[in-house]
Amino acid sequence: MKAADVAKLTKAQASKELEKLRAEMARADEAYHVKDAPEISDAEYDALRKRLETIESRFPDLAEMRPVAPAPAGAFAKVTHGKPMLSLDNAFDKDDVERFFQSVRNFFVRPEDVARVERDAIALVAEPKIDGLSCSLTYENGVLVKAATRGDGTIGEDVTINVRTIAEVPQKLKGKAPDRIEIRGEVYMTKPEFLKLNETLEAEFLALPPEKQTKSRRRQFANPRNAAAGSVRQLDPEITRSRPLRFFAYAWGATTEEPKSQWEFYARLKAWGFQVNKLAERATGIDAALAHHAEIAEQRASLPYDIDGVVYKIDSVDLQDRLGFVGRTPRWALAHKFPAEQAQTILESIEIQVGRTGALTPVAYLKPVNVGGVLVARATLHNEDEIQRKDVRAGDTVVIQRAGDVIPQIVSVDPDKRPKSAKPYKFPETCPECGSAAVRPEGEVVRRCTGGLICPAQATERLRHFVTRSAFDIEGLGEKSIVEFFHDKLVRTPADLFRLKASDLEEREGWKEKSIQNLLAAIAARRTISLDRFIYALGIRQVGDATAKLLAKHYGTLAAWRDAMEAASDPESEAYADLISIDQIGPSVAEDLIAFFAEDHNRKALDDLAKVVEVEAFVVPSTSGSPIADKTVVFTGSLEKMTRNEAKARAEALGAKVAGSVSKKTDYLIVGADAGSKAAKAQELGVKTLTEDEWLALIGG
Ligand code: IVH
Repeated sequence: MKAADVAKLTKAQASKELEKLRAEMARADEAYHVKDAPEISDAEYDALRKRLETIESRFPDLAEMRPVAPAPAGAFAKVTHGKPMLSLDNAFDKDDVERFFQSVRNFFVRPEDVARVERDAIALVAEPKIDGLSCSLTYENGVLVKAATRGDGTIGEDVTINVRTIAEVPQKLKGKAPDRIEIRGEVYMTKPEFLKLNETLEAEFLALPPEKQTKSRRRQFANPRNAAAGSVRQLDPEITRSRPLRFFAYAWGATTEEPKSQWEFYARLKAWGFQVNKLAERATGIDAALAHHAEIAEQRASLPYDIDGVVYKIDSVDLQDRLGFVGRTPRWALAHKFPAEQAQTILESIEIQVGRTGALTPVAYLKPVNVGGVLVARATLHNEDEIQRKDVRAGDTVVIQRAGDVIPQIVSVDPDKRPKSAKPYKFPETCPECGSAAVRPEGEVVRRCTGGLICPAQATERLRHFVTRSAFDIEGLGEKSIVEFFHDKLVRTPADLFRLKASDLEEREGWKEKSIQNLLAAIAARRTISLDRFIYALGIRQVGDATAKLLAKHYGTLAAWRDAMEAASDPESEAYADLISIDQIGPSVAEDLIAFFAEDHNRKALDDLAKVVEVEAFVVPSTSGSPIADKTVVFTGSLEKMTRNEAKARAEALGAKVAGSVSKKTDYLIVGADAGSKAAKAQELGVKTLTEDEWLALIGG
């Protein structure tokens, strides 16, 4: 039926339609946020809202305030950053900072470079680490053309229309601007403005009639960072505009004009019209940097915005470029965090959670308490020894702390405040989820459920991991659905996901044609997957996304990796030697990989998966034309022109794999002074050896 013209509606008709629209939207909201199973498309939702607003604007006395939730994942277009948005390594004390500078110093070997990075001579910029939402703004010929969130560092979300509403983000750069530049910085909200926003949201909620004051309508942000992130990720830019957002600029990504130094870049940022944090300072030497950290720490509580540490950046861009990055963090910058904030509360109960590898983890349920701006209701207790050591009991008064994004921990128990009835905690010896024995091997701290995939907790946790963003990245499948599908035997293993049909879902509560289509499309889009994501998705212990990438890069194809892992079960084998020769993979990770392949049900799950998905061979990223792309190189002896670290970083940047020992797979052995047995081994195996100069000539200087 075609909707009636709003101009012709009587007040009574309008009131009736508004009620209907609100009910439909509340239902859609609940499906989205609570059930995690959207019932209507974003466009349909937007049409409802638009109609509601048009009617409300004609009859303002019928209007109601509606709190808004941040948009769900998938609501924004994806943007590939011109250069990845990196994160920072953390330091928690002076020793960590000293170690960082030592590693910078050790990177260089030429006396003139070493002199520039000596403890007392190194030029740095030290500035507050803002607790907000990082954003990348692209300017072309000085005009803002795109704004994106960080996302996974490589691909973010397009939030251009929302970011354009932030007054501190210049639409046009003042003065001379590069042809193209990505400006990075933090969108944040001040503490007073955050508190005011929460008050407004609460007042709007309380103004609703009592029957409408449902949980899904109540929106309060837990801290200024969430408030900033939630406000940027709105489907309606007018809501973003109404939020008090600000922006500090502090870095650049891809650009046609590299600055010479961090400090010089800040001067340019200011001239272009950005806010640069006033506490940013240039410091020469570590002691000056640490002194500035202490100064900022002292001011922390009185600053109007949240900060969680101080960032040190090596000032010279030449040194920054040479140091490069490892994984996702630059070698030239460090976040020196402040000590964690603490609070006291009551521990109400201890519950056991079962993870995807079967580990039984005790969790403390707390009387909710505010710790440095965040409401905390749970804390980890790590394992049974920890509970015993601290003698934590239900009913205890405890001190908890939050260190950055780390899950809160229990620091201490106050025995004087213990109720008489509190009994020592007894750790279960069976899995609370499936009843199988939970065993703790000698010498280990973790007790594990022996139920394997018959344990619903383990199986569902694995499924959950399987669909996460860095793994198969399947949107529209929340925890609740996974648990229900598992329970109803619809999806027991990852491969079952790929056998889901529309008819399996049609009769299920909360699933509508649109949401079914969306889910099936999201699954179909993942029938082809890169090898590194595939390895990560398997959820093998100690194999995070960085390790998965290393393995994918080393073995290239699923078949090669799998054969190698099965062969590596013999520690005398060449496959085993090859596995642990991969830089950053040692015997402990190797053991977990081998253990995974030793399990029958894991091999079956892999066979099963291989039937439904296609795993792409690993492609070495953008190093085509590099003379050493895909080659395996080993360094031995001491190099004269650069340190081992710098040599390794360069080789990797050019697409080579750097191994720790010589094998038949080695393409080049680079021999420095005083080389030991590796040179002899290379000769024996017929591996090509190069001097340092020959090596430099090969890679172009
Ligand atoms: S520099 C290559 N400076 O911290 C380093 N980051 O853990 C680029 N952050 O994702 C970042 N304040 O969102 C830098 N003054 C500051 C910062 C800052 C906050 C955030 C940023 C980044 C995260 C890294």
